[in-house]
Amino acid sequence: MHTIVLLSIAAVSGVTGNNRVSATVGNSSVLVCSLKSNTTLVTWKISPKTGGFCTLGYRADQNKTDRTNCSDSVNWKFRPDQDPALEIRQVGIVHEGNYTCEVVATEGNFHRTYHLTVLVPPRLTLHCDDHGNPVCEAEAGKPPAQISWDLESNSTPREEVHDDGTVTVVSTFTAHGTNVTNTICVVSHPAGNQSKSIACHPSKNGFYLHVTIILCVLIIITFTAVICYFKLHSDRPCRKLDPPETDLTHSPQDDTMEVEPYTTYVQKENVIYNSVSDLTVGQNLPQGLSPAT
Ligand SMILES: *[C@@H]1O[C@H](CO)[C@@H](O)[C@H](O)[C@H]1NC(C)=O
Ligand SMILES: *[C@@H]1O[C@H](CO)[C@@H](O)[C@H](O)[C@H]1NC(C)=O
Ligand SMILES: *[C@@H]1O[C@H](CO)[C@@H](O)[C@H](O)[C@H]1NC(C)=O
Ligand SMILES: *[C@@H]1O[C@H](CO)[C@@H](O)[C@H](O)[C@H]1NC(C)=O
Ligand SMILES: *[C@@H]1O[C@H](CO)[C@@H](O)[C@H](O)[C@H]1NC(C)=O
Ligand SMILES: *[C@@H]1O[C@H](CO)[C@@H](O)[C@H](O)[C@H]1NC(C)=O
Ligand SMILES: *[C@@H]1O[C@H](CO)[C@@H](O)[C@H](O)[C@H]1NC(C)=O
Repeated sequence: MHTIVLLSIAAVSGVTGNNRVSATVGNSSVLVCSLKSNTTLVTWKISPKTGGFCTLGYRADQNKTDRTNCSDSVNWKFRPDQDPALEIRQVGIVHEGNYTCEVVATEGNFHRTYHLTVLVPPRLTLHCDDHGNPVCEAEAGKPPAQISWDLESNSTPREEVHDDGTVTVVSTFTAHGTNVTNTICVVSHPAGNQSKSIACHPSKNGFYLHVTIILCVLIIITFTAVICYFKLHSDRPCRKLDPPETDLTHSPQDDTMEVEPYTTYVQKENVIYNSVSDLTVGQNLPQGLSPAT
């Protein structure tokens, strides 16, 4: 079979009584109901916390079963004339509620009620936060998990309740002045205890952060220095470049005094080129003859 069916059978505690049973989500649960001699009627009355009331019945005189409103996952475990046990396959949170078995026999009437609680095991995750503190998370557990650390921690866990009734518990390990290398987070839960260990390096994390910041500052300083060096080297003060339009408005004498020789050369070249192109356009040169530059 593909799925392993595990049964959680509640202990018998008298002819009538209330029994607390729990089942882990996804597993199967079997609720027993003892048959009396000369039983005439067996009825399972199911009132879940959410959803509608449903019944399963067996009439011995007619050897007939009937069901009203019960989902397919709730059914007789065996043949009810032999054993009227109830089975819940693939237990989900919706199955949580009260299950009462009523037996009518010539000896009298008997009934037993089960209070089914569905357990959701939390997912355990462990990581280091930005300050290098271990953070333990017991995600979506039902009931809420208990988080503890192998060493004394003065933190209070944080709880977050989800719509489906599960709870996420987060605990951050904070122990000042200790050089803890390996921290163990222990998650206690009725569906099973779990533990994990992690090694966080608070000092190292801070060290790397400082080194990164210092490196960034050094790179910026070097870059600025290089730019300023080249500007100073070209005999100009380290300031914003004036837009070319303002340069053109200056008189040519002032420009030659202030602007470096290369700029003057380029400007003169442009003047020559522009005049040549103007000429070619104006004279309308024949094809094949291109102006020499
Ligand atoms: C529920 O099923 C899982 C595997 O499907 C198993 O590991 C676990 O022990 C079961 N729990 C109970 C309470 O039977
Ligand atoms: C069951 O019923 C039969 C007759 O139908 C009777 O003889 C027998 O005594 C009854 N047993 C009990 C335990 O009541
Ligand atoms: C189940 O039974 C208990 C005690 O008898 C009662 O307080 C509770 O309301 C019942 N829950 C449902 C869903 O019927
Ligand atoms: C059957 O279940 C639905 C909800 O699942 C509920 O509204 C309805 O009243 C139930 N019918 C009976 C007869 O209990
Ligand atoms: C009740 O009916 C089932 C079939 O539905 C049959 O196998 C069984 O033998 C019958 N039991 C009695 C006591 O007649
Ligand atoms: C760090 O741990 C070692 C061994 O666990 C211990 O000998 C040492 O004193 C500790 N240092 C500090 C600063 O707590
Ligand atoms: C889980 O841990 C708790 C203590 O935190 C303990 O009482 C309980 O027995 C443990 N359960 C299992 C299944 O080991």
